[in-house]
Order: sequence, then structure tokens, then C-alpha cells
Amino acid sequence: MFLNENFIKIDTPNTSLIFRRYSELLEIAYYGGRVADMDDYTIVSGHKRKYARSCSDDVITGNTTVCCYGMGCDRHFSVAIKNYDGGIANKFLFERAEKVEKPIIEGLPSSRDGKETLMLVYRDRDYDIELRQYYTVFDDTDVIAVSNCIVNDSNQTFSVQKLDSLQMDLDSNGYDIYTYPGTWARERHQQVTNLKIGKFSIGTVGGSSSHAVNPFFMLKRPERMGGYIAFNLEYSGNHRSTVEGAPTCITRVTVGMGDLGLDIKLSSGEKFHTPEAVMTFGNTQNDVTTSMHNFVNNHVIQKKYLKERPLAVNIWEPLGCDFNYDKVIAFADASAKLGAELLIVDDGWFGKRNAPNCSLGDWVDNKEKTGGLDNLSKAVREKGLKFGIWIEPEMINPDSDLYRAHPDWVLGNPKRYQTLMRDQLVLDIAKPEVFDYLYGCFENLMKLCSPDYIKWDYNRVIHDAYQSPELNGENYSLEYIKALYRLMDKILTNYPALMIEGCAAGGGRYDLGMFHYVPQIWTSDMTDPVERAHIQEGTLVGYPQSTMSAHVASAVSHAGRNTRLRDRFAVSLEGVFGYECDITKLSEEQTEEVKQQIAFYKKHRNTLLYGDYKLIESYTLGEGVVSITVSKDKSTAIAKIFRLKQTFDREPVKYKFDGLDRNATYKVGFFGREEKLICKGDILCNSGLDLFQYFLLDRKGEYTNEINTLVIEMEKID
Ligand code: DGJ
Repeated sequence: MFLNENFIKIDTPNTSLIFRRYSELLEIAYYGGRVADMDDYTIVSGHKRKYARSCSDDVITGNTTVCCYGMGCDRHFSVAIKNYDGGIANKFLFERAEKVEKPIIEGLPSSRDGKETLMLVYRDRDYDIELRQYYTVFDDTDVIAVSNCIVNDSNQTFSVQKLDSLQMDLDSNGYDIYTYPGTWARERHQQVTNLKIGKFSIGTVGGSSSHAVNPFFMLKRPERMGGYIAFNLEYSGNHRSTVEGAPTCITRVTVGMGDLGLDIKLSSGEKFHTPEAVMTFGNTQNDVTTSMHNFVNNHVIQKKYLKERPLAVNIWEPLGCDFNYDKVIAFADASAKLGAELLIVDDGWFGKRNAPNCSLGDWVDNKEKTGGLDNLSKAVREKGLKFGIWIEPEMINPDSDLYRAHPDWVLGNPKRYQTLMRDQLVLDIAKPEVFDYLYGCFENLMKLCSPDYIKWDYNRVIHDAYQSPELNGENYSLEYIKALYRLMDKILTNYPALMIEGCAAGGGRYDLGMFHYVPQIWTSDMTDPVERAHIQEGTLVGYPQSTMSAHVASAVSHAGRNTRLRDRFAVSLEGVFGYECDITKLSEEQTEEVKQQIAFYKKHRNTLLYGDYKLIESYTLGEGVVSITVSKDKSTAIAKIFRLKQTFDREPVKYKFDGLDRNATYKVGFFGREEKLICKGDILCNSGLDLFQYFLLDRKGEYTNEINTLVIEMEKID
């Protein structure tokens, strides 16, 4: 960090962010590749300054980190306050910058192990309120974590009606905005939108970070500037990020939790601190990806989970709710023989649940079906497996004993109709009695079968939440998410050996807030490899492979197309690998194939989960998805080629495998094939391999799959 009279500079290993003081303002002078310390950065700080005028003029035209109504700016605001006198205009003036300890954000998760934190302090010119902005950098990633905090130093009460976590004004307009929208079973499909002048906004008011659009997004700078800037939010509820291209050649980016129903009353001495946002700059998309992956693995996920995660078999897709003790044991037997490590009993073990329309809330063992979870878990463990179980604690079915006893526990207005989704309503977990009830259910479950793993599901959107005013009803969404974090935290603190996997009808709550508690999330209910390849590519731009649960399902899944076991394996290999097909019905040949797949995954699990991932070819080009994951020490790499296009004579299928040690020699093998090559790192990186022969259209007509995959193993031998 570098501070002088006029400039403040913070550095990450490869980037710098420079602020420039000018009278009562602070401007963003530069954000990009790392630059050396200098006394004066005027030369890089642009020319669009309000002071380039000959008469008094309070209009802000420069790049700032804060803006609200009253500051002389007509772009969108990152702050909105209702002052004690009813006025809504404020003027924050820059006061000072200091190096501080990274603050704890009360009730909300935030990044761990920061290297240093800069605090920028602004004070309102007319009211006694202060805005503090925190920028934290890290040793091993180019991510910068940013948050805002409003402090009421007056004797009056103010109300915060909007406070974004980050405002970044960037030079130029004309950025390409990469966003990751989707829906159930089609999460995070990359979309690119060019924006010159106008506003582009992503977000949701559905109560969770959503299938509809992930909070991660990225800007590609115009060609003459080059590089990418990506953003995300460490929060699991509503979010709203806006990119605004101004005619004055500035692009404003704001990232935050939105303002639906927000009305945070700050009495004298109180403060409100936003969730943390993150941003990173990289010369290429892969640079951004590396920074985000290192950030999530090293500063979001709890250290205790940074190890080999168990290879799971889940009975949901093959059996649904239709299982019993014997069927589960048959799966456990088969799992153990194949080399799997964890067996998961999914939805349907409780109350009278035989289909997803009843009993949510009644977390009582259905002994007739399970044979008693105590016995079942014991029998599964006796086969050398860990035991996992599913739960959807935040939900309640109207057809449940819990609802019949406590209809008032629902997060809805008892005086109006409450919308149903998947036959379920949402519990108001911010109510202490609901919180205690749910925690009690977890305690009982832990006592009964002490699961090693819990799949925490969440299968609906919140459309019409209502919380009584006594419970801080205006801020129901924030209060709900804080209660969710408290519940997860309490469970994980009291049961430290437990691992929770997140799930929200697949990937509907795939966000950095969740990753503070759960190290992995069920990426999507879509298990068809063609569709999955697309979803996983989008997911991996901002989230590491270690977060992405991926199972080999049956030949025909939600997309209805018939696929080969080897292709389902290759695509699932990108994430935390497992099986979700009927492994009790595998032929001898398939059993052998699965055993080899499992052995391969186990051998390369550390590289695949924690190595450096690079996208080589994107789905959006229409030919397939190609990527490589290289271990941190570059001794091993796994390349995955998912080809969606048939290959014709004379057409090259050539990919460069960047990221390897160029001076080393590698043994190159192809999963499921005998042949091996010996290849120099520079050949693999610079020339690449022509893999034409592995994808050639078979004229006998055997080769008609919609996806053809190849998994390449590269091991350093010299
Ligand atoms: C949705 C999840 O994504 C599925 O994997 C499964 O757990 C079902 N819910 C169970 O209802």
C-alpha cells in the first residue's frame, strides 16, 4: 500500500488500484496491471475532472467510489439515505485514508486471511454520518474485497434505504458484459452484452442468489485498453448489480444486495455494514478465473475442507423417494465394491414423504421405510462408507404436522394468499422459535445417525415474503439470510466433522456467501453431459472446481438424449466427482469401466479440485468445451475435451495445453486407451496436440453421439 498527499495505491500480486485526492473528492485514477510506486500519477488519471472548469460547479463527472442523491451526479447511486429531517440528499466528502485491521462484518460472512486493508473515510457535509469503505488485498490472488459501512455519529435516527457494497467508476464505455443467467437445470449459461450508453442490470428479489442470474459477472474492456474486470458478492440473498455507460465516457459499476424492502434504521451510534463484494482485474479471462479460484479456495472456503472430498453415490436420480432399507443397502454394497466413499440418502426418509408434496418440516425418521436411520447408517458404515443424508430445513409443506401446529411460522402475510412453489412455503427462520426448532431437528438427526455429510436443499423462490414489523420486517430478506448463516454456523461449530453440501434445486444458491459454510454445491439437476458441459463452463469462470459437485447419472437424464458412460464420466470429472445412476444394475463391463473411472479420479483428485484450471475452447464457439487443469507444481495435468461437433476428414482437432512446465518432459496418456506419448512441455504448450484421430467420424455409423470426449493425463517424468 502506498499513500502520499495526493495518491493512494493498493497492490495485489499483479494489479494496482490507484485513488487520487482532489480537494474534497477522491477519484479512481487507475485500475489494471500492477504499476510501480511513484509520487505522482497525474499522467494516468484521465482528464474528466470537475475542476477543469472556470466557474463554481458541483457536478461530479469523474470516477468516484461513492455517489448518492445530493452529490451532483446524475448516474445511478450506490447509497440512498433518508435523513432524520426527511431529506434524501447527502454529500459525502472525502476525509482520510488509513491502513486498518480488516473489520468483521457482524452477522455476515466475509473473506479470511487478508494481507492488508485500506479504509477510505467520507463524512457528510451537513449531517453527522460517516461512510467507511474497506479495500482488502491478499497474498495469493488478484482479488480485492470491498465493503461499505455507514456510521451514525449524530443524536438522530437515519434510515439506510440502499447501500451497495462496491462502486467502481471505470474509464471508457463500450464494455462487453459477461453474465451468467439461467433457470432450473440450465444454470449459468454465459451471455455477452455490449453496452455503450445506458444501464444494464442483473439481480433478483427472489430471496436467494438464484438460478435466474448468478451474482458473478465480468467486463471485457474495450480493445484499446485490454483486460477483464470481474465482480462478485459474498452474499446469498437478493442482489442487484448495475453497469452504466455514461456519455462522458465513464462506466459505473455497482454491486450490492439491492434495496427491496430495505429500511435500516440507524439510531445514534449505530452502524450498518454491507456484505463484502469482490473484484479482480486480469489480462485474460483465464487470469480472472485463476484469481477467483484462488480466492475462493484460500479465502472463502474453510481450510478444513481443502482436502480430498469423499466420492459420493447418491440414490436420488435412480430411486427418487421410492426406496427402503434393502434398496439402500444394495446401493451401499455396490458403492463399496466400486470404490466409492460416501452413500447419500436423499429426499424421502422423513414423515410420510413418498413424493415431494408433503412432510417438509416433519424431520422425523420414517422407520418403516429406512429401517431406522440409526440401523441404516450403521450398516452403511460397516461397508466402509461414510453416511450422508438430505434435508430441506428452510421449507414447510402445508401438508405437514408442523404446518398444522404452526401456520404462523411461515414467512408470509397470514392475511393474504401465500404463493406455493413445489407445494411448499418458506419458514421464517429469523423467528427465534423457528430457529430453535430447526436447530433441534439437526441435533436429533446428529444423535440418530451422526451423518458425515448433509445435503442442504432449498427448492423454491421467495415471492411474497412478509415478516412482522416487530421482527424488523422491512429488512426481512437480510434478516432471513443472516438467520440462515447463523443456523449453518451453529451446526458446523457444534459438529465440526460434518460437511454440508449446498443445493437449491440444483444450482439456485451458488454464491460466495454459501461457500463460507459449504465447500461444495450440487451444480445443477441437469446431469446430461452436453447440457452439463455448458453449465460447468459458465460456473467455472468464477468458481473453482472444488465447489462444483458433479455426478455420473443414467444414460438418459433430464435432456432425454442417450449418452455413453465414458462421456458422462469425462464431464463429471470436472467437479467433485460421484455417481447418481443405478449402480446396482451395471453390467460386468460397465462395472469394470466404473472401477477404472473411480481409480482415475482418486489418483488425480487433488489436481482436479485444487489445480489451475484454464478454459481452452468455449462452448459458445459451437464446437465443444476444452479445458486443462494443471497441478500447482505443474507435475500433473488433466485435459478434458468435450467435443460437440462431428469431425470430418482433414479437419484439424488441435488444442494447445497452456500452463505446463515448458522445459519438462511429460508422459501423455488417454483415459481408456493403451497408447502413451512422451512429449516436451513446450510442444504441448506452443504447438499443442492434433487429436484428429480420436474424433474422426466413423463411417460405419457407430459414431453418432452428440458428445465425444477425451480425457488426457499428462505426468511430468523429467
Ligand atoms: C432438488 C435437488 O437438486 C435434487 O438433487 C434432489 O435432492 C431433490 N431436490 C430432492 O427433492
